[in-house]
Amino acid sequence: MFQTRYPLALKDGALTLPDTGSIVVFGPAADANLSDLPKDRCVIVAPDFPVHNAWEKRGWTVSATPPEGEFTAAIVCVPRAKALAQAWIAAASAATNGGLIIVDGQKTDGIESLLKALSKRSTTQGVISKAHGKIAWMTDADVADWAATTNVLPDGFITRPGVFSADGIDKGSAALIAALPKDIKGRVADLGAGWGYLARHILSHENVAELHLVEANITALDCARENIKDERVQFIWGDATTHVNVTPYDLIISNPPFHTGRKGDPDIGRAFIRSAANNVKVAGQFIMVANRHLPYEETLSQHFNEVAEIGGTSAFKVIRCAKPRRAKR
Ligand SMILES: C[S@@+](CC[C@H](N)C(=O)[O-])C[C@H]1O[C@@H](n2cnc3c(N)ncnc32)[C@H](O)[C@@H]1O
Repeated sequence: MFQTRYPLALKDGALTLPDTGSIVVFGPAADANLSDLPKDRCVIVAPDFPVHNAWEKRGWTVSATPPEGEFTAAIVCVPRAKALAQAWIAAASAATNGGLIIVDGQKTDGIESLLKALSKRSTTQGVISKAHGKIAWMTDADVADWAATTNVLPDGFITRPGVFSADGIDKGSAALIAALPKDIKGRVADLGAGWGYLARHILSHENVAELHLVEANITALDCARENIKDERVQFIWGDATTHVNVTPYDLIISNPPFHTGRKGDPDIGRAFIRSAANNVKVAGQFIMVANRHLPYEETLSQHFNEVAEIGGTSAFKVIRCAKPRRAKR
């Protein structure tokens, strides 16, 4: 609720934004209202492709990664992942050279513990609580040790703050690999490919001619680029729900997301299923994994003539779909 707390912070001159210079805004949600900010002086940091697109369409300057350059103020809209929140605050403080940073977030995303830690590391200028969250502004933040670092997992994969399952292999993805057929070949796509865990397994099949990794989060895709060195791979920063490949795929795999921004949302998984049906060959197959409680069955049978559970665990179901129901392409 940045749009609720920020005007309160400005009220009576408690918080004053510098009259000149650029302002960097980390992580506003696609539907946030930033109309109180000077649009022509702001750069929005949006690592997720759909959010990036939404801001760009509204005429804002957007960067997928923290931009180079000097800024007179920085705003951090706190994300749920603590490591990413800290990394953005460190980048914000570096971008303003220890100048003004404004940190806004919900209690459910950990704003209170973050501000408690920051109060010992900066000169707090003001704090306001409102709408189940807080906004605070400060200078001289000593947070260089919060900067993003690369995490190396035991089997050599690297991850960075904010990517899905940054601390290890997701159990759902492991269940998906265990259930995949032994004879994978042809043109394959992974929708929502993350940092490339599934990709390494797919590429171990020598008859795979091409693998398209479609991923919305630039940090995850950049990790995948470092994790997967193989000429058969195309790294696609994009929205899997609108992804269209000219030539349909023999196999599409996915461990689809079940959140949009901060909210749980089975519709995003349903949109992945629709996209898979539109992009798979008539004789191809789509194999996905999902938490058992997620209600995808109706959507799956709307879009595929054959749907069968082929594996999983007590927590995850792996589903194979074939014979997509769609106009011939
Ligand atoms: C459940 S994770 C699976 C990641 C990876 N396949 C794995 O097995 O570790 C879902 C992934 O989808 C990505 N994602 C979310 N929305 C997306 C979209 N609209 N288009 C493409 N990728 C998206 C997320 O960033 C995340 O990396």
